[in-house]
Amino acid sequence: MILKLFVVMCGMILGHWLIDDFDSGLVKGKRVLVTGASTGIGEQLAYQYAEHGAHVVITARRENRLKEVIEECKTRGNKDQKFGYIVGDMLDIDSTENLIKNAVDKLGGLDVVVLNHILLNTLGFWEGSSHNFSSLERIMTVNFHSYVHLASHALPYVEKNNGSIVVVSSVAGKVGQMYVTGYSASKFALGGFFGGLRQELRMRNRDVSITLCTLGLIGTETAINALSNFGQDFILKAVGPASPRDTALAVMKGGALRVREVFYPESVYYQLLFRDWCPEILDYFIRWMTSMPE
Ligand SMILES: *[C@@H]1O[C@H](CO)[C@@H](O)[C@H](O)[C@H]1NC(C)=O
Ligand SMILES: *[C@@H]1O[C@H](CO)[C@@H](O)[C@H](O)[C@H]1NC(C)=O
Repeated sequence: MILKLFVVMCGMILGHWLIDDFDSGLVKGKRVLVTGASTGIGEQLAYQYAEHGAHVVITARRENRLKEVIEECKTRGNKDQKFGYIVGDMLDIDSTENLIKNAVDKLGGLDVVVLNHILLNTLGFWEGSSHNFSSLERIMTVNFHSYVHLASHALPYVEKNNGSIVVVSSVAGKVGQMYVTGYSASKFALGGFFGGLRQELRMRNRDVSITLCTLGLIGTETAINALSNFGQDFILKAVGPASPRDTALAVMKGGALRVREVFYPESVYYQLLFRDWCPEILDYFIRWMTSMPE
């Protein structure tokens, strides 16, 4: 037990030290696709990559928002950088192949793919209703299947440049969360799939890094509104959401340094130690912080 703790501590210190090794040369000139970039963490990711000298193509459903984000990228980057957008709905799995081709055309290749989009479901108990089942299907399509399809279509291009795939996930993908059972399931699925894929790439000597990002409560407008509309003001006050901009920076750095996993904010890492050693206590604590729906 003591030995384990020691090893974990060393790992964490080493992790910090590696993360501090970031320099923007790792991102400059890279050709990056960011999904779900019309708002929230994805939008901030676009800005971070733009500020650090990358060429960026973003995608989401709302064209007017994408245009605004690209305009902002242009002001933050310089005129040698390429910026573009592709309108796409990730419920349409058949569109993913073209989306990747389109991004490759715009950028002249692909080094980094940041998969970040999610389908936002309404919060609530799982009742086994037909509404619950149809919403689960949509969630799995957007939050899981489309990630697998996009990564698969991108891999041949990314492989040519020893590039990276960055998968944005959540603590809900490590610990089952109430009111978002479907979302939680889709995030667990990402961990399983991309963990397995990472191993296969290593076995076959393909130098593509896969970075899984386990994010805690991030103060995006969508997340804050969803929680406060669902009567979860206590958790918002108690946890203190992390800034989307800092989160995006941590995700970008993790991808650039080719780390296996990013935990942000760092408290997420400690929370996950409890998960493996005393899951009942962690569950109890989460229930204690969570209010019954109003
Ligand atoms: C499940 O269905 C019930 C009844 O339709 C609904 O009240 C609840 O919000 C749904 N839960 C989720 C997570 O969609
Ligand atoms: C990718 O990595 C392999 C070995 O890890 C190396 O032989 C190859 O030159 C690299 N390619 C590029 C484009 O960096």
